[in-house]
Amino acid sequence: MNEFTGKVAVVTGAASGIGLALATRFAQAGMKIVLADIETAPLESARAAIKAKGAHAISVRTDVMREQDVKRLADAAFDAWGKVHILCNNAGVSGGVGADGVWNLPLEDWDWVLGVNLRGVLHGIRHFVPRMLAQGEAGHIVNTASVAGLVTGATAAPYTVSKHGVVALSEILYKDLKARKAKLSVSVLCPGWVDTRIIESERNRPGELKPEGSAEVRISPQMQMWREVVRGLLKHGFRPETIAGLVFDAVNSDTFYIVPVQPDIEDALARRLEDIRLRRNPTIVPPEA
Ligand SMILES: NC(=O)c1ccc[n+]([C@@H]2O[C@H](COP(=O)([O-])OP(=O)(O)OC[C@H]3O[C@@H](n4cnc5c(N)ncnc54)[C@H](O)[C@@H]3O)[C@@H](O)[C@H]2O)c1
Repeated sequence: MNEFTGKVAVVTGAASGIGLALATRFAQAGMKIVLADIETAPLESARAAIKAKGAHAISVRTDVMREQDVKRLADAAFDAWGKVHILCNNAGVSGGVGADGVWNLPLEDWDWVLGVNLRGVLHGIRHFVPRMLAQGEAGHIVNTASVAGLVTGATAAPYTVSKHGVVALSEILYKDLKARKAKLSVSVLCPGWVDTRIIESERNRPGELKPEGSAEVRISPQMQMWREVVRGLLKHGFRPETIAGLVFDAVNSDTFYIVPVQPDIEDALARRLEDIRLRRNPTIVPPEA
């Protein structure tokens, strides 16, 4: 897709971080923007900021876990502007980092993280793609996974599983669309560390998916230390605007895999691919002293 002016982009998780940067980048290209997020006040600020730059923008409070919300988002977007050309299924949460041993993770962590990160993308595909196909115009779907969709670390199982799911779903969607010679294409975004509010995701966990006991009780001292390390890695990560620029270029050039990663993650990716190619057991890298 390489004509953007006057076209319509829908971005979920648009009130913060990568989503806000994507919405801003597509607005700069002359697109009309539909911003969706679960957080009402930041969503309104994001819409105001984009409008202040002269773009057309509406916002729809959406919990991507809930199918009815995503259907309502699609209705609002098509009612407002008749068409949708770019869909960014970007909303996501990090969670389930709290317990040592995957067997100790509460089911609520799985339900929440898979619900937002994987089902959220699925809802977007199910409610937008048929209508985007019916338009018969060029369009693009961008699914935000993570490099955690391509490699596994030693923790964050629900997040890693959800992001592997998003990569697989995106590849299959891409093949489905190409097999039909559709004018729609797909990219999957798999970044390493990006400086956003992702580590504060608990702010958006619904009450019914909060496990017994406070998060602090469930987080061991080692996990607490790991959290602090992650906070530092995020702070020194890519700027969301840099990621949004790469996504824009990928949509423009019909590039499927968008994988901007830090050098040590590049090594982990190569190791994982090599483990599989050589039928070698997963390499375990000792944590740095
Ligand atoms: N920050 C990173 O290092 C990094 C790396 C790889 C992938 N990602 C992915 O990027 C995406 C965006 O995250 P971010 O890093 O910008 O974090 P962020 O917390 O800054 O932004 C995420 C946004 O999603 C919204 N959100 C959360 N739950 C929602 C729900 N149920 N429905 C609708 N909106 C919801 C939040 O309110 C927030 O505005 C996520 O899918 C995340 O997994 C982030």
